[in-house]
Amino acid sequence: MPEGKILERFLDDRRATARIACPRILVPAPGQYLLAYDPASRDPLAVPVFSGGSAREGFLAASPLPRDWNPGLILALRGPLGRGFVLPVSARRVALAALDASPAYLLGLIPPAQAQGAALSLVCDDPPDGLPADVEIRPLAALAEICQWADYLALAVPRESMQGWRERLGNGDQLEVPREAQALIVTPMPCGGLADCGVCSVEVKRGMELACKDGPVFDLLTLI
Ligand code: FES
Repeated sequence: MPEGKILERFLDDRRATARIACPRILVPAPGQYLLAYDPASRDPLAVPVFSGGSAREGFLAASPLPRDWNPGLILALRGPLGRGFVLPVSARRVALAALDASPAYLLGLIPPAQAQGAALSLVCDDPPDGLPADVEIRPLAALAEICQWADYLALAVPRESMQGWRERLGNGDQLEVPREAQALIVTPMPCGGLADCGVCSVEVKRGMELACKDGPVFDLLTLI
C-alpha cells in the first residue's frame, strides 16, 4: 500500500492539523479524502484525511488526526477517495462556508478559485490566520447576505449538524442558496466503502446515501 509520512503537526488546527508528505498522485482534491492508518499500530484505525491545500512534498491535512500521530510517523494511505467539490468554471463569486466545521476543509478551493479570477468570501466565526489578502472573511451571521451574492457556494458541515442547517438552508424565507451549491458532510468513514459498514450514512431527499462513496461532497439541493 502507498505510504505517506507526517512531517509536521500544528497546534492551531483552523488552517491545518498536519503536513503530510506523499506522492503527488495521492494528494486529495478539495473535498476528496485519503484513508490513513498507522500500520505499526495494534489496532489500526483508518482515519479519513482531507486536504486543506497543497504543501511542500505533499499536502496540509484538514481533518483531526489521532493525538499520537506525531512527526516522523509513516502512514499507510488509500485513495484519493470519494466525490470532491466541482468548482464551476463560470463561477466568479465563490463563497466558502464552514458551518460548525473547521474552515480548513474548504481552503483547498482557494487556489483554483483565484486561478479563474473569482472573488472569494470565507464565511465562518473562527477564521484561520494567514489567508490570502483577497479572501474576504465574513461571520456566519452574514451567510444569508453572502448566499445572495455568491454564484457558487461550498459548505463544510458535520453530519450531526446537518438537520439544523437543513431547516435554515431549505427554508426560502431564511436563506436563498445559489443554484450551484455543494456541501461536504464531515462524518467518520472507517471503511471507505470497502466493507459497506454504513457508519457514514447520510440522509438525502430520496433516502440514505453513503458519504464515503456517494459523497462526501453532495449537491446541496439533494440534501435540503
Ligand atoms: S465508511 Fe463504511 S460504508 Fe462508508
